[in-house]
Amino acid sequence: MSAQQNLNLENYWLPFTPNKKFKANPRLLVSAKGMHYKTDDGREILDGISGLWCCNAGHCHPKIVSAVQHQVGELDYATAFNMSHPKAFELAEKIADLTPDGLDRIFFGNSGSEAVETALKVALAYHASKGDGQKTKFIGREKGYHGVNFGGVSVGGLTPNRKSFGPLLPGIDHMPHTWSPENMAFSKGQPEWGLHLAEDLEKILVLQDPSTVAAVIIEPVTGSGGVIVPPVGYLERIREICTKHDVLLIFDEVITAFGRLGDSFAANRFNVRPDIITMAKGLTSAVIPMSAVAFDTTIHDQLMKGPEAMIELFHGYTYSGHPVACAAGIATLDVYQEEGLFDKAKELEPIFEEALHSLKGLNQVIDIRNIGLMGAVQFGPGKLPAAEFAANVFQHCYDNDVLVRYSGEFLVLSPSLISSKEHIHQISDALRNAIEANS
Ligand SMILES: Cc1ncc(COP(=O)(O)O)c(C=O)c1O
Repeated sequence: MSAQQNLNLENYWLPFTPNKKFKANPRLLVSAKGMHYKTDDGREILDGISGLWCCNAGHCHPKIVSAVQHQVGELDYATAFNMSHPKAFELAEKIADLTPDGLDRIFFGNSGSEAVETALKVALAYHASKGDGQKTKFIGREKGYHGVNFGGVSVGGLTPNRKSFGPLLPGIDHMPHTWSPENMAFSKGQPEWGLHLAEDLEKILVLQDPSTVAAVIIEPVTGSGGVIVPPVGYLERIREICTKHDVLLIFDEVITAFGRLGDSFAANRFNVRPDIITMAKGLTSAVIPMSAVAFDTTIHDQLMKGPEAMIELFHGYTYSGHPVACAAGIATLDVYQEEGLFDKAKELEPIFEEALHSLKGLNQVIDIRNIGLMGAVQFGPGKLPAAEFAANVFQHCYDNDVLVRYSGEFLVLSPSLISSKEHIHQISDALRNAIEANS
């Protein structure tokens, strides 16, 4: 008997979900192991999206589960203000070992959204502490997603996420996104076209007056906005422009960190060093919610210049560096290292790329984008509007035991780093069948 027969569906309000449609035909997951979920009606579903770009080590990894079980019985909680516990320091050190050199001061939060707010606030505090209190503006990018809190929504560039929530923060501008199907459709990895789009940042900074701008925040690869891969040379140019104008560069790596691009961070893969990196998701393989922000030592040290007894930063969360999350984070980073999962993702990248691009030519498929283990299939109008087509393809895949994600007019894929070649092919076969069945 399926769990839904006894379930009251009234009270729970699902996030980012058409609730009425969902409740008419609920999709319920009841357990998970490795690459698979089990549904309430007893089916095994292949997880093609690592939960939500987050279960990078697969589901219920025994080492992470055991670390959490042990920790919760030993030290359930320790206040983060004026007190701490050893595992917070241990995890911060492990993260600093993976970040680019010098980005080694680590602040903990609970979600990607909180990491973004932390990064933005520290950027302001840093400039103010240097006597540059007029540097208060932020530049984001169209199609950017930086979580759902007011700072993140303000610098974000997804229209539906902004609409209805104004007024947002003042003093914010946006660069254009870099997706141009006419010039880069079906690019594999980084498109050759589009470097010149970085020059828009120079123009925006000049227009805004760079002496009033605190930071630029971008996802090195746009994730939720549709896996938009940076053109060759683009991130390097953004870095140069930020440096020239004394504007901090924040990489929002909530999706791209911890192996998603076959390296610890996108900053390392692209060899572009930002001043601040936000991270979450893969930090604990999503077993326990946790986020972190890595700051350049100079930013941290600037804020440490006051008297010893003074609180340097009036910011933090009740659950910053929560012991159970720290235990999960330590175990997860150990698993990545012991099982060589970042390298495994790198090896899988060409297989994933080929599988995804084998869908080129199918009905309504107007673009396919990929890098590392993240990819998107973009639909155009046909017999059905693109968004309806994408929703149907998602449902067909789910009915045939493969979980993908649809968002507007595209599908995204982000299989976990423990995927096999066979898993990747099962995902692309399911997509092919679903597209053909709905054509
Ligand atoms: C780049 C980026 N930043 C921030 C967030 C927000 O993270 P959370 O949902 O944990 O608040 C996300 C979530 O997908 C994200 O992709």
